Amino acid sequence: MFFVCIPFDAACQSASHILPHVTSWLAPVPASLRLLFFPVVALAGVILVRVSAPPPDELDLGRVFFWIVVTLVAAALPVRLPGGVHATITTAPVLAALFDPGLPNPFGVCWVALIGTFEPRDLRGDPKWYGTLFNRADWVLSAFAGWAVLAMTQSAVKHGDPLGVLAQIVAAGGAFAVVNNGLSILANSLNTGTPLSRVWALSVSNIAIGLVSQVPLGWLMSEVADKVGQWAAVLFMVPLLLARYSFSRYTETRDLFYGTVQALSQAIDAKDGFTRGHADRVSRIAGAIARELGIAEREIEQIELAGLLHDIGKIGIEDRILMKPARLDPDEQELMRRHPIYGASILEPSAALRPLVPIVLAHHENFDGSGYPQGLKGEDIPIGSRILIVADTYEAMTSDRIYRKAPGHDRAMEQLNRYKGTQFDPVCVRALQTCIQRRGPDSFEANDLPPINYETLAELRRRLAREPLVRDAHAS
Ligand SMILES: [Fe+2]
Repeated sequence: MFFVCIPFDAACQSASHILPHVTSWLAPVPASLRLLFFPVVALAGVILVRVSAPPPDELDLGRVFFWIVVTLVAAALPVRLPGGVHATITTAPVLAALFDPGLPNPFGVCWVALIGTFEPRDLRGDPKWYGTLFNRADWVLSAFAGWAVLAMTQSAVKHGDPLGVLAQIVAAGGAFAVVNNGLSILANSLNTGTPLSRVWALSVSNIAIGLVSQVPLGWLMSEVADKVGQWAAVLFMVPLLLARYSFSRYTETRDLFYGTVQALSQAIDAKDGFTRGHADRVSRIAGAIARELGIAEREIEQIELAGLLHDIGKIGIEDRILMKPARLDPDEQELMRRHPIYGASILEPSAALRPLVPIVLAHHENFDGSGYPQGLKGEDIPIGSRILIVADTYEAMTSDRIYRKAPGHDRAMEQLNRYKGTQFDPVCVRALQTCIQRRGPDSFEANDLPPINYETLAELRRRLAREPLVRDAHAS
């Protein structure tokens, strides 16, 4: 190691010249991300300089280049997961570079991690330059963490001891994966203001097995490259592409599922005579209350889904009752009160929607036991249902209907507070209140879906009769 001595005054002078440029260059980095961004990028920069100066004595640049190319090919196929995190199959080739005994590490693996993980979207400016820089730093730090664990455990593992080698692979791969995914999830959470647990639940948790399986695959690639030849390691692209396929299938299936649930929920809104987006808002309010209560992200997802589909049972209620402009008579009320049971029986046959059944079935149960259909009381009512009834009431009172203006936030909170302990769970009402105090009453405003045109059938017939073009089109 050598040091270059610069006079202190000169160093201060250059720093004062460079600092304003650096500050303006770094200004676009979101404030929420800065506390993480700067240390991560600076640390990765220091590590890169430290491992590269001076370069290793026996440097096989061809080998470094080989792993960079294999990693670049793997990086060309990222999959965007629902939580905003991108899953790639680059972990395996980077780990292969880490385990490769023919590569001078940590120099080799750090440069493979830096250059090889560039994705085509980086060239398109997605993410922005600071995102690209952060991701590169993340990969360098992960590679270095993996190497550090490998180096530290080296002396403890006897040559040819399979259990020792296995433990070393698990430890090095684990360190790599924890730093890599941890920083990525943390950055995403800070950047989007989404709770860490939610980013984890939406993205990595569902494909964790696919990601973990890349660790032994990376070791196998390095062994094959070392003992058989580099060309043979390329064959491992096949299982990697299969892993990538499973990531994309997961994303597609999830999108399809949520798209279908959204369409269904809008159909229910339309039939019910609510403005478009009623169920969507109920779902978002319920999710916010659940999060305020510290409920696990998996359960919150179910509560949000139940929010979208809570009134699905109204499909089974006749229009003359559902759309009756006057007060329902006792018989009609009795029929109307069956909609939670209908809803539960509609959802029951679907394996994906079955967990919502208890929440939907009990979404009209009152806290004091005076609700329906079962007259459940207090904590016997599922927490999701206790949250939904609060969210549903708040939404109904804060959004306009075709026949009336919204009573508004103050009236809604007054009503919720008046009936807490009887109709509503006081804990859920308090959670909503806290949440709104922090986020403001506009935080659940309707989304940008276009409004539904609520023509009654009679009006539609009259309009068709008046407009020959439309009438002819229907006649043909
Ligand atoms: Fe309902």
